[in-house]
Amino acid sequence: MPSTPVIEDTERYQGGFGNQFESEARPGALPIGRNSPQQAPLGLYAELLSGTAFTAPRDHNLRTWMYRMHPSAMHEPFRRIDDGRWHTGPFDEVETPANRLRWNPWPMPTEGCDFIDGIVTIAGNGDAHAQTGVATHVYCANRSMHRRYFMNSDGELLLVPQAGVLKLHTELGRLNLSPGEIALIPRGMRFRVELLEAEARGYVCENYGTPFRLPELGPIGSNGLANARDFLAPVAGFEEETGPVRIVNKFLGHLWEGGQGHSPLDVVAWHGNLTPCKYDLARFMAIGTISFDHPDPSIYTVLTSNTDTPGVANCDFVIFPPRWLVAEETFRPPWFHRNVMSELMGLVRGVYDAKAEGFVPGGISLHNCMLPHGPDAATFDKASTADLKPHRVDNTLAFMFESRHVFRPTPRALKTDNLQPDYDTVWDGFRSGLVNQGDRA
Ligand code: FE2
Repeated sequence: MPSTPVIEDTERYQGGFGNQFESEARPGALPIGRNSPQQAPLGLYAELLSGTAFTAPRDHNLRTWMYRMHPSAMHEPFRRIDDGRWHTGPFDEVETPANRLRWNPWPMPTEGCDFIDGIVTIAGNGDAHAQTGVATHVYCANRSMHRRYFMNSDGELLLVPQAGVLKLHTELGRLNLSPGEIALIPRGMRFRVELLEAEARGYVCENYGTPFRLPELGPIGSNGLANARDFLAPVAGFEEETGPVRIVNKFLGHLWEGGQGHSPLDVVAWHGNLTPCKYDLARFMAIGTISFDHPDPSIYTVLTSNTDTPGVANCDFVIFPPRWLVAEETFRPPWFHRNVMSELMGLVRGVYDAKAEGFVPGGISLHNCMLPHGPDAATFDKASTADLKPHRVDNTLAFMFESRHVFRPTPRALKTDNLQPDYDTVWDGFRSGLVNQGDRA
């Protein structure tokens, strides 16, 4: 069943992933039969936001037409402001340790802190300039963005809230976002984040590469995993507010700010397929083995950012949701492995089935290219001798940002007090297989 939101979601939405949507908050605001009439309806200004090159193949092409009270060009020059705790690729400020790393949750702020101020970059890869790679952040905030808006020229944002309900006010309308849901905000789209609870914490994947889309299903067929209809785009809803506001523009790794005399969210109507959206992860149709062996985790891919190399992702967003484990004569948790892809994991709620302790909601683990990892000793012992009845893994929601590029932690993430100093000991205490083979009988 879909998760029950903490706060009732009374916003209206349109269902579908990447559909050609249209919406108008005032009747007659959308022109009929053309995008840019000599005079747009209601005296509005027609403006295009493109998310792909004009000439991208039709199947990949993303763009939206907006009909707004003011052109978005109408703002003061952007001037540089402090970057806060944002970092941007290339992540070459410090050497990347050849070690597995794990962090405790980032603490909630003790002073007033909105979504922008509350961003801390953990690690990333690639290069915003080259439009490849991702950055991973956490946000910890205790106040709404007030007369302050954000746009990210460096990439698309994938939000994974872990605590606290948010309301995302975007150019195309509003989305409520609860833990257990995710949201995508396209590159360059202006928005502000309102907190509907006292505090909020979550994870962000800032995707410099190709926009996230649904993975191919191959032999799975035409249904399953994340179904397109469960993604929700907003309906048009605009702010008529006037008076000074600020827009923060993240551009090539730095924050720039410009003022203007009206809300940038003054889009009265729009149509197109480049939209923010949200998705309830409880609607993910998990597919697993009904015979034996633990499948590759790619079976849990929700969204993928492709590269030019088929099957090799700039970033996959993968979840480990509640599900039944029924495999026979099988070690059911994740196996020991060394992968060419790099894995950064977070936990929204509950316990992850490969670790008995130490990986808690709001925490992060990082297993980079070729670094050995897998179950801890306690999990291994338990799973090796477990009665293999059908077992439901409940109250859990872990996820992974998996990338072809090695995640390079920021200097701050390597110095923070919540970096666990003893993570490697998780894999202490395994007995020699030949010596102790009788013990597991
Ligand atoms: Fe792994």
